Amino acid sequence: MFLETLQVILWQPVVAEYIKKNIEVHFYVAASSINSIKANLRKLSIQHKYVFISCHEYFSKLDWQYCHLSGVCALSLFFRILMGDVQGLIEKQTINDTVNPRSSSSYYQNYHSLKEIYYWMEEVARVHSDLLEKIHIGSSYEKRPLYVLKLSKGQGNPKSAIWIDCGIHAREWISPAFCLWFIDQTMTTLLEHFDFYVMPVINVDGYEYTWSHPSNRLWRKSRSRHGNNRCIGTDMNRNFDAQWCGKGASPNECYETYCGPYPESEPEVKAVARFIRDHKDIIKAYITMHSYSQLVLFPYSYTMKKSKDHDELVKGNALILGLQSSMGLKTRISSMQIMSPGGSDDWAYDLGIKYSFTIELRDTGTYGFLLPPEEIRPTCLEALSAVKEIAQHVLQNL
Ligand code: ARG
Ligand code: ZN
Repeated sequence: MFLETLQVILWQPVVAEYIKKNIEVHFYVAASSINSIKANLRKLSIQHKYVFISCHEYFSKLDWQYCHLSGVCALSLFFRILMGDVQGLIEKQTINDTVNPRSSSSYYQNYHSLKEIYYWMEEVARVHSDLLEKIHIGSSYEKRPLYVLKLSKGQGNPKSAIWIDCGIHAREWISPAFCLWFIDQTMTTLLEHFDFYVMPVINVDGYEYTWSHPSNRLWRKSRSRHGNNRCIGTDMNRNFDAQWCGKGASPNECYETYCGPYPESEPEVKAVARFIRDHKDIIKAYITMHSYSQLVLFPYSYTMKKSKDHDELVKGNALILGLQSSMGLKTRISSMQIMSPGGSDDWAYDLGIKYSFTIELRDTGTYGFLLPPEEIRPTCLEALSAVKEIAQHVLQNL
């Protein structure tokens, strides 16, 4: 099969098993292989519309799981050149890491490295010590500290709270950018009725890895190695204790959707799960930020069955309608797309947090994970109105 000899990185869907007839497939290849890919697709009479092209050779790992693509899915691949200058896009995402003063509005319209985000957390917690508390909840596999920022107006009896996390998947840079934006915004609004627990980066090791060299830019998983595993990394969003490692996750450590050796095997997942468990009586909504595809997803993902709150969430419901219009996003039950067990949203829901959402931020594939910094602001504005929509609904149903 032709993909055996060509170097292809799949962007969407995340693993080849999810490819079905007529779905859009985004993948990534070195520019030097493009002509032979085209020729091969033509030979197989594959209609081509979408592809991401890397102009660089450094995306060089051949992942054998793509090898059966051409046989099984020949007629469902679409092929067109979407991006030429991938390196240029990566550079654009990294140039303004430290140049702006923290707290200027342009600071929040750029992407930041992990080191910079640690400095930023320290500084906002210091400058806004009246509203913001930095809570250490554990350490990553590579021994980096894990922090949650608690936003709260005034002490006294604990208010109901909303949890928001970002950066479960390393390459989804728009997600941590949202958490920073959100914290900046929330210090002036939103705190009347709720406290917020915001975790800017869950997968700190993976995030750092995507920043450290362009060839790692598309890393998704954690950076842990278990036992004598051949490959590094667990998919943190398959590692939660919700039908862990069922159909839709992989027990193979080399897959992008590897579920880990056991639930909460990742120290980051364990720290988050423990914190949320300890606060489950006050946390009324769980929101986790991912990219890309502009969707709001809600449980379940581990089964095709409806959750018991499904009808409240769907039937002529103001919440879902509001989410749709506020973000120009579509709203879906997670499992309508693909089965993916072990996710944080399903886990939080089964823990008793009825309002549990995964928000897939911009875009829908034009830039994918390489979303230019100019889109941070509009993306965050629409996501912020979605969060407000959720908060409003929760408030009315407390
Ligand atoms: N893109 C996300 C992922 O693959 C979707 C998460 C939806 N929720 C879930 N529990 N799988 O992890
Ligand atoms: Zn994700």
